[in-house]
Amino acid sequence: MKGVVLAGGPGKRLGTLTRITNKHLLPVYDRPMIHYPLQTLVDAGISQILIVTGGSNAGDFLRLLGNGEEFGLKHLNYTYQRGEGGIAEALGLAEHFAGGEPLVVVLGDNLVEKSIRPSVERFAASGRGAKLLLKEVEDPQRFGVAELVGDRIVGIEEKPARPKSHFVVTGIYMFDHQVFEIIKTLKPSARGELEISDVNNAYIRRGLMTYEILDGWWTDAGLPETLYRAAALVRERALRGETLTPYTLHLTPVLR
Ligand code: G1P
Repeated sequence: MKGVVLAGGPGKRLGTLTRITNKHLLPVYDRPMIHYPLQTLVDAGISQILIVTGGSNAGDFLRLLGNGEEFGLKHLNYTYQRGEGGIAEALGLAEHFAGGEPLVVVLGDNLVEKSIRPSVERFAASGRGAKLLLKEVEDPQRFGVAELVGDRIVGIEEKPARPKSHFVVTGIYMFDHQVFEIIKTLKPSARGELEISDVNNAYIRRGLMTYEILDGWWTDAGLPETLYRAAALVRERALRGETLTPYTLHLTPVLR
């Protein structure tokens, strides 16, 4: 299994915060946002990782992450997404890197509390199709929403006004090699992007999609409110002593 972090989006929903830098370089408590999805992949046991970035600050990712030594990696791969073609277009740029192997894809603004390693291992063992990690949330309208029948996922609607469930598609996806052939068939959505939900619906139509419910908290960090929430969740976890980075180790918290 190889890993991809998608960090190309312009982060417009963060307003002035992303005027002069990429969303994924903004701080989330004690680390730049991109550290978290990268750590998610490393913790899942993945060592061959591609970062897809974009915009005018792409060089900053290289300066920040180098070859991933801080994460125990020997090497990191980078590629560049021009324009704002969407998540599926960004993933299409990973075809050469994937080289026919299955992928774990993590959106650069998605943070999780716990390791996804058990789910990745189950997918790797199955060897075929795709797997989603779903989470039950209060505000499904903001996400790709799963329609579930029994233990099957029968469809995904992207940001529906009337969601068919409270189970949403988190930004962690596992795909086999078919994903690139599917991406090539996609047409831009109303917002002018190639949608990851269209990729997932193609797997569902082929009868090759499975899902699991994600354990622990999950949040995106693409809105002022969720960026704030992400920092609060990371901080609480650090104060519980579950993740001690060199920076948090010596700090006395300002607030308890
Ligand atoms: C994207 C996906 C959506 C998914 C979400 C998870 O939304 O399109 O299906 O639920 O990430 O963070 P976006 O961030 O592009 O609005």
